[in-house]
Amino acid sequence: MLEFNFIAIEGHLTFTSEMAFVLSELDRQFFPTPWGHDSWEKLFLDHDRLLILLKTQESVIGFCLFDKSVADSFAHLLKILIHPQFRNIGLSKKLLGSALLNLENAGCSQFFLEVEEDNYAAQKLYLSAAFQIIHCKKNFYGANRSALIMTRANKSHS
Ligand SMILES: CC(C)(COP(=O)(O)OP(=O)(O)OC[C@H]1O[C@@H](n2cnc3c(N)ncnc32)[C@H](O)[C@@H]1OP(=O)(O)O)[C@@H](O)C(=O)NCCC(=O)NCCS
Repeated sequence: MLEFNFIAIEGHLTFTSEMAFVLSELDRQFFPTPWGHDSWEKLFLDHDRLLILLKTQESVIGFCLFDKSVADSFAHLLKILIHPQFRNIGLSKKLLGSALLNLENAGCSQFFLEVEEDNYAAQKLYLSAAFQIIHCKKNFYGANRSALIMTRANKSHS
């Protein structure tokens, strides 16, 4: 059985250049809309964010990243990724669940994300985590690449 754990990182002091390099490479190779390396180096500068790493003993095999605004009880999912070798075995559900719990404990109750219209795996993941589609934004990712906007509110706040 695959052994893994989650590591939550919430500020620049615990975020190393080595992590920036590893995440930047995963993002570049496997995320549909990757960022430049500079954005990874400056991940926590001027941003209040939650990063959760999914690690085996050997390496980082996935991550998810939220922007958070605790004052507004609000969090925005920027990225979630599982390495292709480890997909379709339920890891992203566990990873997202862990991040949502962390954010709820920090006071967030409203969640928001964009997902490309043809990214069915990601949409299934978000629907299973109680996100709902509220809008379709045309050409969000470029010509003829629309985004679905999805939100999730805690039951006690909806
Ligand atoms: C989206 C992603 C994170 C899903 O990770 P995963 O660990 O493979 O997903 P899980 O195994 O936890 O499955 C989550 C749900 O998606 C479904 N799913 C997984 N892969 C799928 C696929 N290729 N096609 C359709 N559904 C799929 C699963 O069946 C499950 O739904 P269910 O509960 O109804 O059975 C992964 O495919 C990925 O890293 N994609 C590239 C990055 C990306 O697109 N991120 C999202 C950007 S918005």
